[in-house]
This record gives sequence, structure tokens and C-alpha cells, in this order.
Amino acid sequence: MIDHSTIERIFSAADITEVIGEFVNLKRSGQNYKGLSPFTNEKTPSFFVSPSKGIFKCFSSGIGGNVVTFLMEHEKLSYPEALKYLAKKYNIEIAEKEESVEERQQKDDRESMLALNLYAQKLFSENLNSTEEGKAIGLSYFHERGFREDIIEKFQLGYAREQKDSFTKTALHNGYKLEYLEKTGLTIKKEDYTFDRFHGRVMFPIHGLSGQVLGFGGRILKSDGKTAKYLNSPESEVYHKSNILYGLYFARQSIIKHDKCYLVEGYTDVISMHQAGIENVAASSGTSLTIEQIRLIKRFTKNITVLYDGDEAGIKASLRGIDLILEEGLNVKVVLFPDGEDPDSFSKKKSTSEFHDYITNNESDFITFKTRLLIKDSSSDPVRRATLISDVVRSVAVIPDGITRTVYIRECSKILDVDERVLYTEIRKLRRKYAEQKFKTELKPPSYEQDDFKTEFHANKEIESNFIEKDIIRLLLSYGNREVIKVVNSDGIEQILSVADYITSEIDNDDLEFKDNTLNIIYNEIKSQVTEGKQIEDKYFLFHTNDSIARICVDLLTSTYQLSKIWQKHESYIETEDMKLTEIVPETINAFKNQKVLSLMKDTSKQLKIAQDTDDRDNIYLLQQRYIILNELKKNLSKNLGDRIIL
Ligand code: CTP
Ligand code: MN
Repeated sequence: MIDHSTIERIFSAADITEVIGEFVNLKRSGQNYKGLSPFTNEKTPSFFVSPSKGIFKCFSSGIGGNVVTFLMEHEKLSYPEALKYLAKKYNIEIAEKEESVEERQQKDDRESMLALNLYAQKLFSENLNSTEEGKAIGLSYFHERGFREDIIEKFQLGYAREQKDSFTKTALHNGYKLEYLEKTGLTIKKEDYTFDRFHGRVMFPIHGLSGQVLGFGGRILKSDGKTAKYLNSPESEVYHKSNILYGLYFARQSIIKHDKCYLVEGYTDVISMHQAGIENVAASSGTSLTIEQIRLIKRFTKNITVLYDGDEAGIKASLRGIDLILEEGLNVKVVLFPDGEDPDSFSKKKSTSEFHDYITNNESDFITFKTRLLIKDSSSDPVRRATLISDVVRSVAVIPDGITRTVYIRECSKILDVDERVLYTEIRKLRRKYAEQKFKTELKPPSYEQDDFKTEFHANKEIESNFIEKDIIRLLLSYGNREVIKVVNSDGIEQILSVADYITSEIDNDDLEFKDNTLNIIYNEIKSQVTEGKQIEDKYFLFHTNDSIARICVDLLTSTYQLSKIWQKHESYIETEDMKLTEIVPETINAFKNQKVLSLMKDTSKQLKIAQDTDDRDNIYLLQQRYIILNELKKNLSKNLGDRIIL
């Protein structure tokens, strides 16, 4: 742990223009610097560095942050690594911080669990390679499947013996604690006995990005249809399924080299692809992709090719997950294997070069693929056809890059036999809707529709349900200290409040909470500063030691920064937000409250429907009353605004 004051010294010593300047050719542009984004392949610069704020923002990829974030993103360093990089560059000595008891405990826990997992992996491998049982059952199984010796060794495959407590006993005997055996899930504890989670299975260790063993997948040897084919480690402090991709550790270098990642379903697919010489491959392990997993890949490449087995139902189930990849701005391609074949089985039937050729020659674009797939069962039915079109349109609309979208629109129009202009209009409508939702809260200038760039930029972001919450934080960070809000209290006395005082008192009076956890943390930090009578320092948040807080705050502050740049084109909009705070702030709070009330009304009417269906009279009455009250509240919200705020 690097202590707080050292972190502060590093941040204040680091010159962001100088640090980034080593990687990006920066040119001065007014108060800022700009250059070609190091994260995308752009031709016109949209990468900005603001030396005065100490932040950067890349408008083509959406990545933004402070000097440390830059190093993390660009050089793939961890947070402490990035700090150490800067400390070295600026000759700052790093003092390691004393850890608190809990921190120590947590770290000890993790380390003990990882040590145990490593021990287990070694023992399982030894079982496989050097015991009679392991060789006869496990190793011969792998050999039957055609796994080569070097590959078995590389992936550290192993074998868990049939005897139900063999592993637990050996581990305890060797000094490993039952506490960690349980925490890693290797041992299952019942009231009066313990046994091995994995027994009579071949073992696939699952590695983290630096090669630690985080958990295991264990496969039964014969399928009897009753026992699950694979058993996996349970969620634990070291094993978070949604943050892990099997094989990524072995694939990193190759993914960077080929600028592409193949995505497969299972452990054996990854292994067989390596055996066939294709190493840029990772597996989602049978579940649908999570956003965290996609972002893991995004650190290494923007190109994903999904390898599907021929099962149509399975493919259809996964389509939504792939929209998620598109939304992250990644390019998605698809290779479809013949019916019933997965990459593992198919590679075993072909020679290495045939397998390579198949993958290269059968790669098709995801959207085209999806359109073709869906069109098969919808072409004659007009309702289904309409659903199909809107489904395809949705996939295209989330793609951040405009040129890519245009290409898809062309292709889909051909495949669907729909006029390009129809698709184009639909997509614009959707994108405008997203953009409007965002702009509404940022009080955009009215002529935005003509300016593609602005629409582009805003629609770039995920469609957020928490945009109002974000806007409140943005207002607090940007204008919290301004004393501009005039309110009239219940005694008719006028009072001038700072934006922060106003917002915090409004939110606290009604006991409102932010749904988004990170925003809630930021809000509470701001609130405690306000309560202590301190000024709100945006720098404190921009350089926050919690990286996700720093990122959100940079995002929030740069979005207005960009807006104000746009506004400069329209003379009349300069400083609009600044000058209209007296309206904007209460309006935003109002919108926040309104959102809460609406969501409560929705809940209530849902419950009311259930009560009516079950003829639950008492509840019907209660809920009707609640609905009426909420409705009153809603009306009052707008009236209130008029009453209390005087310009
Ligand atoms: N999986 C799982 N639990 C199951 C079934 C599957 O966790 N009960 C995960 C595993 O990660 C598996 C992946 O889903 O690798 C894909 O499942 P499947 O295609 O059924 O298995 P294969 O990887 O093809 O395994 P094998 O070839 O050994 O049958
Ligand atoms: Mn298989």
C-alpha cells in the first residue's frame, strides 16, 4: 500500500502533458492540448489534455481520466504500478503505508486462498501425472480426447481422486487451514464431516491475468445425465465468475499481436485451439458475457470474433450479449461451425491448416449474420418481420462509430430488402432519443440535431437510467460553491444558498438516495464536506484514490467542457448553463424527485393490479390511497418549484 500523502505528492508532481506527451503527439489548442487518440485509429484528433485540470479525454473512445488513469489504460498498468511509474519518473520515494487490521486481514485471506489454490493445482497435476489412478483414469481421458502432453502441462490440467475426502485430508495434513479450504470452496463442510468438492474429475485450473490460480472447473469423466458435467469453484474473495475469462492469461500476448480475440464457450475449446496453434482465444465458460468480461478483452483489442457451434437455439440466446459488445464500441465477427460441432470437436476432425482456413474463410460480420439468422423464420410473417427489423435496427443503433453504422445500414437494407432510408430514419430516431434523454438534463442548445458530432458524442454513452443522478453530481462538482440560489423559507424570509447547500438540503429533507452506488459514495463525500463548511474541490474528486470515482468525475466534468466548446459555435449559448443555474439546479432536483415519485407510482399500480386480481380488499384501498397521495405529490412538484424559487 502506498500511503496517501505519497499519492498526493505523485499527483502534484506529475505533469500530465509531459507524461502523455511521451505516447501521443500533442499540439497546443487554446488552453488545452490535442492529438490523435492513442486508443483508436482516428484521422482527426479528438484526444484532449487539459493541463489546468490535470485530465485527459478521448472523445472517440470515451476514455478519460487523470494522469494515472492514462497510464492504466494505455500501458495496461495496475493502479499501484502506474503510481510507481510516475514516482520513478519524478524521483519520488515511495513510503509503504501501514495497513489497517482489516486490510491486513483481507490481504492475508486472499493470499492464503491463492496459496491454497496453487497447492491444489500442483496436487491435482501430480495426481494426474504420477499416480496410478490418475494416469489410468484422468490422463487416459485427456489422451483419448487427443490432448497433447505439452498442452496438458501448459494448462496445468489435473485430476481429483475418486475418494471423497482425499484432497481435504492431504491439504490439512500439509498444514493448510480448514478455514481457507472452505473459503476457496475446495472443501465442503457439513455439520460433522467434510468432503472434497471435486472428486473423480479432471481439473481445469482457472487463471487470473497474472497467472494466479483463482479457481477450478472439474469435469466428470462419463456423462450419466444426472451429475452436472462441469463443477466450478464457488464465488469467493478470489473467484468472481463475472470478471474472469478462461484462457485470457495464456492469450494476452497473442491477442495484442493479432489485434483480435476469439471467443469460445468452453474450457476444451480454448485448449484445442491452442493445440491447433491459435492462441488468441478466451472462453466465457458457458454463460452469457458480462460487461466486465468485455472490458477485460477491450484492454487488449477492439476486435472480437465469436466462434459458435451449430446450435441455433444457443446462438439466438446469446444475441443480446453480443449487442453489449457492440455497445462497448468493439467490432464483432462470427464464425459458425457445422451443426453439432464446437471448436474442440471440429479442430480434432481437421488438420491444423484446414482448421485455420475454416476460421479465416468463414468469418462473417455479426450484424449481417444476425440478420440472416433471424430472417429465416420471419420472412413471410409481417409481424415477425417488423420485430426483426426493429431488432436489427437496435443492434446497429448502439454502435458508436457513424461510418461503421452506415456500412451496416447498407448491408442490412440489402439482406432485409428494406429501403436504406427507412433503416436510416429508424436508427436516427433511436439515436436521437438517447441523445435527447441526455441533453434534456444538460440543457442543450436547441439546434443540436444538425450537428452530427454532438449527437454522436452523447449517444456514444450507454443509455443511462441514472443520468439525472449523474447530473446532480456534475452540478455539485462544477458549481457547488456558487451562492446563487435564492429560496424563501416557510416564514417568508429570503435566503441565498450555495448550490451545494441547496441540493444537499433538498435531497436530505426528502431522504432521497442515489440508486447508483458510486454516485452515492461521491454524494456522501460531497455532503460531508459541505456539512463541515468546506469548499468543494473538484480536483479532490478528479484525483480520487478510488479509480472508479475519479473516472466518473472526469467524465462528468468533461462532458460539459465539451458542450461549452460546441456552444461557442452558437454565440448566444456561451455560458448558458453558468448564467441559468438558478433555474437549472432546482429543475434538476425536481426531475430527480419526479423520477422517484414516478417509479413509486409504477410500483404502486403494479401492486394494485395484483391486489385486484386476488381481490385483496384491504390492500386495494391502501394502495389506491397511496396512489392518490403520490399523484398529489407529483402535481405539487411543479407548483413548488414556482413557489419557492425566485430568480
Ligand atoms: N459449463 C459449466 N457447467 C456445466 C456445463 C458447462 O460450467 N454444467 C461451462 C464450462 O465452462 C464448459 C462450457 O460451459 O466448458 C461449455 O459447455 P459445453 O459445451 O457443454 O462443454 P464443453 O466445453 O464442450 O466440454 P466437453 O467438450 O468436455 O463436453
Ligand atoms: Mn465440447
